[in-house]
Parts: sequence; C-alpha cells; structure tokens
Amino acid sequence: MNGPSADEGEGRPLVVAVVGSPRARGNTSVLVDEALGELERRGAAVVKIMLRDQRIAPCLGHEDCAVRECCPQADDAERVLATVYAADGLLLATPVYYENVSAQMKAFIDRNVFRYGHDVFLTPTVVGLLAVAAETGPDDTLAALRRYVELSTKDDVPVLSVGGYADAIGNAAANIGLLAAARRLGADMAEELGLADD
Ligand SMILES: Cc1cc2nc3c(=O)[nH]c(=O)nc-3n(C[C@H](O)[C@H](O)[C@H](O)COP(=O)(O)O)c2cc1C
Repeated sequence: MNGPSADEGEGRPLVVAVVGSPRARGNTSVLVDEALGELERRGAAVVKIMLRDQRIAPCLGHEDCAVRECCPQADDAERVLATVYAADGLLLATPVYYENVSAQMKAFIDRNVFRYGHDVFLTPTVVGLLAVAAETGPDDTLAALRRYVELSTKDDVPVLSVGGYADAIGNAAANIGLLAAARRLGADMAEELGLADD
C-alpha cells in the first residue's frame, strides 16, 4: 500500500483508492493517480492499494462468517479491508474485463462478506468509481461497483463516477480529456469532503 496508514492522516480526511488492474502502470492506475493527486493537492491524506500487490484469495463460500471471529483465509484481505473501512473517501477503480470488474476487484468485493456477516458497513462521506474499457462495458462495470457500494453501506452516500476508453498502456496518459475527467472526479470528491481549492 502506498501512503499513510489509516491512522496517520493527522486529522486530514483519508481517501483510499482500491485499484483492480493487474498492470502496475496501466490506464486505470494512471487515472487513479490523477484523481488522488487532486485530492492530495487539496489536503486529503491518500492511500493507493494496488490489489495486484496484495494476496486476496477468492471467497471459499463457508457462509458462516457471522459465527466466526475471523475469516479462515490468512491472507491480506483483513488488513486491506481495515484500511478501506476507515476511509472518509473511497475510490474504486477497475479495468473492464468482459464488461465487468476484473477478477482482482471481484475477489476484493466478495471478501467484504465477512464484514457484511458481522453487520459492519462502509461509512465514507463520498465514493468515486472509475472504469476503463477498450471499447465496451464501462456502464455495466460502474453499475456493478455501485451495487457493491449500495450493499456495503447503511446510509445514502454520494457516488461519483467516470467511465473511459483506453487500451494499450499509455493510452490514458495520452488522453487529455480522460485525464481531466479523472482530476475532476478527484476535485468533486474533495468538495464532498469539505476540502477547499485554494
Ligand atoms: C481479460 C480482459 C478482458 C477485457 N474485456 C474487455 C471488455 O469487455 N470490453 C472492453 O472494452 N475492453 C476489455 N478489455 C480491455 C481493457 O479493459 C482495457 O485494455 C483497459 O484499458 C485495461 O486497463 P488497465 O491498463 O488499467 O489494465 C479486456 C482486457 C482483458 C485483459
């Protein structure tokens, strides 16, 4: 994980980005950096979690989370979830794979079920969603992410989203309009977090 730990924000709002691309410097990651850069510039503490660098195995479907003290899978999921559930602003970003989220993002989503089983919910002030496709599927993918947020929160939370198109590595970085949309997403999240632009 890059950035301060959940308790190192020094009173600043904490924004946590969860990135589902297996490409370290892929299009999704580049756009997340734009959004986080804007948030950081306005005073947020930011943490970027590249799921490719974490060991988060798929859920094994025991379906008895509620009676367990911890998930029997000893991997990085609990540590990642602890950071995500501490977020004031949450940014979920994924490449579009078969018109849905990547496998890394789906494994992350499914492992939330342990907290769901214990009635523990996300409590961010704002959520940002980002999906990058070559040609098709950003809307369906954003809808899947939005549904995860709805199922994981008790209260209504503003959800802002950007869907974009890029293919080869470097395409997003060369797309001025898409970079600007990602920065706008960061700026709009900052606004919801009460961070002024000065
Ligand atoms: C397994 C796989 C499935 C994909 N499925 C789609 C798809 O359904 N629609 C689409 O437009 N692009 C699809 N793509 C292309 C990626 O969404 C696109 O290249 C994106 O920019 C990758 O983002 P990244 O660089 O952050 O990994 C797919 C790519 C892969 C590797």
